[in-house]
Amino acid sequence: QQTPKSIIVIFGATGDLAKRKLFPSIFRLYRENKISEDFAVVGVARREWSNEEFRGNVQKSISNLPTFGKDAEKFASHFHYLPFDVTNIESYQNLNGLLSELDEQYNVPGNRIFYLAMAPEFFGPIASNLKQEGLTATKGWSRLVIEKPFGHDYDSAEELNEQIRHAFDEDQIYRIDHYLGKEMVQNIEVIRFANSMFEALWNNQYISNIQITSSETLGVEDRGRYYESSGALLDMVQNHIMQVVALLAMEPPIKLTPDEIRSEKVKVLRALRSVTAEEVNDYFVRGQYGKGVMDGEEVIGYREENAVDPESNTATFVAGKLMIDNFRWAGVPFYIRTGKRMTEKSTEVVVQFKDLPMNLYRDKSADLQPNLLVIHIQPDEGITLHLNAKKETGGATSTPVKLDYNNSSDKMNTPEAYERLIYDCMLGDATNFTHWDEVALSWKFVDTISEAWSKEKATNFPNYESGSMGPKESDKLLAENGFHWWSVKPVADSDSE
Ligand code: BG6
Repeated sequence: QQTPKSIIVIFGATGDLAKRKLFPSIFRLYRENKISEDFAVVGVARREWSNEEFRGNVQKSISNLPTFGKDAEKFASHFHYLPFDVTNIESYQNLNGLLSELDEQYNVPGNRIFYLAMAPEFFGPIASNLKQEGLTATKGWSRLVIEKPFGHDYDSAEELNEQIRHAFDEDQIYRIDHYLGKEMVQNIEVIRFANSMFEALWNNQYISNIQITSSETLGVEDRGRYYESSGALLDMVQNHIMQVVALLAMEPPIKLTPDEIRSEKVKVLRALRSVTAEEVNDYFVRGQYGKGVMDGEEVIGYREENAVDPESNTATFVAGKLMIDNFRWAGVPFYIRTGKRMTEKSTEVVVQFKDLPMNLYRDKSADLQPNLLVIHIQPDEGITLHLNAKKETGGATSTPVKLDYNNSSDKMNTPEAYERLIYDCMLGDATNFTHWDEVALSWKFVDTISEAWSKEKATNFPNYESGSMGPKESDKLLAENGFHWWSVKPVADSDSE
């Protein structure tokens, strides 16, 4: 399906996100013919670039894509640049003028996407200036895309939301959580609701616990300043991890519309057991990386990173036990963990099924393993089921089985998260964007934890070595319920033959 003719205005067009994600995603959509020739992108930022300089940068950002070729120049010719001061009304007037010209030139009926790829303190002023100067009242539709962080706690998020809502209605606001654009995150819903064999078992009768791990090998790189004020809890848990929990735990929606799905996700977030300040350390573990060796190279600890306080209290690792107090999930812990500078870059969900009432193979000294359903989100995408099967010598042994499903094996042609999300936004499909209700509830949940941690200095930091799987306390969190973290690799094609 081709998107309606529209103009995308990117605020912060000289920045990293535009270069790394937005231009390449728009290019791929263009190459796949999902965007018609009648489109324009207007880049606005402080720098005094010309159209030519901007287009040169756009071309550079897509030059390593496999389909880069003669189309690149033609593609870049759709890009226009406007030097811009977000606090100056004149800038908005100039933008309005340019948009009207481009509407004519590209035959666009006034449809606009305002993509704010900038720091959130500018969201409110930009939104209100856009409205004041009449840029939101066009003949067509106008949509606002914003990136996280949406505030740093519930109060600031609400304030930010209020500011934006003065200019845009909730259904015009597209809050990006790029995890919702990932193929295998989107697949959670399909695995659950398109297969009778899983949905029947998807509850506390049959599942003992669910684990979500999102580990990274990189440190904070050049984002020390931002990261100092967020840490792993706000950077990863409040948004990406909570969204994955909601998708795993929600009830089947009555229809696959954004509103119905959101309403089920919201119910999960409302059922999350909130922990008191005193209980925080019983349910959550925080960590900070020290120095270590990664890929044979020595790397520095978090406190030595650029723009980081040498006595920083910021957590670069968080593990937690979430309890969802509803009929389906009562008693089933959802264990989550995420961190920087861990052993490997990997995001996966492990659903552990309950043990059988007894082991009939015990005399054959078979140690039956629990059945696991593993959803590999990245870097490999796929699903593995761990079953016990007969050993040639008798007894039983745990065997991982790769489940084949209709995923493209051609990675180059699998759309990336941003590509999917930009496409959805152009089509007006908000399913994979976060609604304010979800953002608000997950802030409320996370606030207690961050408040408790901000008051109590982490005396044991740094408490995990770079290149490890985080502090030992995260293992204890599971051990006290008789579980342990599973680290399960996808089965390679050759293994299952
Ligand atoms: C971002 C965080 O939202 O997600 C980063 O700000 C993190 O700190 C990134 O590295 C992880 O995303 P992905 O897609 O690499 O798992």
